[in-house]
Amino acid sequence: MENKRYSIAIDGPSGAGKSTIARAAAKELNFVYVDTGAIYRTVGCQARRLGADPCDAEAVAALLPGLDITMAYGDDGLQRMYLNGEDVTEEIRLPEVSMYASRVSAVPAVRAFLLEMQRDMARKHSVIMDGRDIGTVVLPDADLKIFLTASPEDRARRRYEELVKRGTPQDFDTLLKEIRERDYNDSHRAAAPLRPAEDAVLLDTSGNTFPQSRDQILTIIRERLGL
Ligand code: DC
Repeated sequence: MENKRYSIAIDGPSGAGKSTIARAAAKELNFVYVDTGAIYRTVGCQARRLGADPCDAEAVAALLPGLDITMAYGDDGLQRMYLNGEDVTEEIRLPEVSMYASRVSAVPAVRAFLLEMQRDMARKHSVIMDGRDIGTVVLPDADLKIFLTASPEDRARRRYEELVKRGTPQDFDTLLKEIRERDYNDSHRAAAPLRPAEDAVLLDTSGNTFPQSRDQILTIIRERLGL
């Protein structure tokens, strides 16, 4: 008999620690971790490179036919992103690309373009997929849905510390403002706004250390899926 494939959807606002927590949980369970934000970032990256106005839905949609996005997993388990064959894994993390990604992700044609790519991953592997609309749109039949959040201040602080560690520090207040702006954009857009699925388990990681959040999520997963 074929092994059952599990799908776990993790949604929530930016900076809640979704990717770090989801990646650690996937490693522990031997699931594939899919960072869907990185896919939207790759579209944003192309818009930025070509000077397309990311708020102009038609201009953004016009980029799609020339866009080949692929991903691959390194030996370290890290998801690398390729844009028309070029590795853009680092470039998509630039702060300017974050804003482009947020804008292009509001374009329905972009969401439709990326939908099958995401579903395909869940058909082929046991996945922990993180994003904004995984439990509501991409994998409505996921075995488990988790909505992971934290206060804006907590998220800005984590982002601040991450950037200091990377050697590219940024002003805390600017980061907080950007996080609030992106939250607003992500949850007020007409296409697949950020919201918890009705059957999602809510997990607020404010004030948690990383090991606490990781252990909490693993407990939820094991209890719910009987693993
Ligand atoms: O998770 P992230 O910050 O890397 O995501 C980048 C942008 O992509 C963010 O503004 C929201 C958007 N996004 C989305 O609309 N749907 C997803 N499933 C994942 C990300």
